Parts: sequence; structure tokens; C-alpha cells
Amino acid sequence: MSAAHNHLAEDAPGSEPDRRSFLATTSSVAMTAGLAASYGTFFALAGRFLYPAGPDVMGWMYVATVDSLKSGDALTYFAPSGAKVVIARQGDKGTIDDFIALSSTCPHLGCQVHWEAVNDRFFCPCHNGTFDPQGKPTGGPPKDANQSLPHYSLRIENGLLFIEVPVDRVV
Ligand code: FES
Repeated sequence: MSAAHNHLAEDAPGSEPDRRSFLATTSSVAMTAGLAASYGTFFALAGRFLYPAGPDVMGWMYVATVDSLKSGDALTYFAPSGAKVVIARQGDKGTIDDFIALSSTCPHLGCQVHWEAVNDRFFCPCHNGTFDPQGKPTGGPPKDANQSLPHYSLRIENGLLFIEVPVDRVV
């Protein structure tokens, strides 16, 4: 009885078209929302390209304790923006002059440079690019194009090393 009743109810005039129209409406709303999200993302990215943001927002970030780096040591630091920085200790006076922070991205074609304490230089393995301890180009394509490694500011506070880096995340 109840099965027959359900059968009749499902076949009732108007019930199938109502379901179809509900599904069609739901699909349309989902598609519209999807398109709006896609176009929104597209226009947000296009806006960034057409109207680039102003200067980077910079902030001071903790790196390490001063004593954890010995003269000749280096470490790679990742800024919140995604920038990769090589921080090297080149002296043992215990002052900020011992340290240097340079972009680890080679200005030639973007490979990663590293500090070679034994050779007293930064080295890029991709095309044998070399830089002096201050990041000035001394060999390879970076020297030909006079491309230095960009500097970052450092400071020491209470035995702790801090670096000033862009804190906006790169999209
Ligand atoms: S990418 Fe560094 S020398 Fe070419």
C-alpha cells in the first residue's frame, strides 16, 4: 500500500520537472559561483600585474644566536616573502661586521650561490659565477654584466642575530 502510494507520489504530475528544475538551478548557481571565483582570481592577478604593489613591506626577523655561527659558517635563510638569503660569518670579532646577508639567487640566471669560506667567495655553480665577500661580481657572467648580489641589513641584539627582509608573501 505504501509502496504503491510512493510510486504514485513519484509519478505525480509536476514532481519530475520540479526536481529537474531544482537540479538545473543548483547547477547554474554552482557554475556562476565558480565562474565568479575564477574571474575574481583572474582580475586580482591582472590587477597586480597592471598596478604592481608599492615598495616591499620590510620587517626584522630573528635568524640565530650569534654564537651558533662560527667564522666561515653560512646558513640559508628563507624570508616570509619567499626570498632566499645566504647569511655568512666572515670574522670572529663578535660584532655585526662579522656577518653579511646577501640574496642567494644569482643575478645571472637565478641559480643558488653558496659561500665558500676556503676560497673567500660566493660561488654560483651554474656558470662558474663568483662574487667577493661583499657580493661584488669577480668572475663569470655576473662579472661580465656587473651584477652584484643584493644585500640585506643585519643587526645584533642581546647576542641574537636579526635580518630585515620583505615580509609580504610573493604570490
Ligand atoms: S646563474 Fe649564476 S653564473 Fe649563471
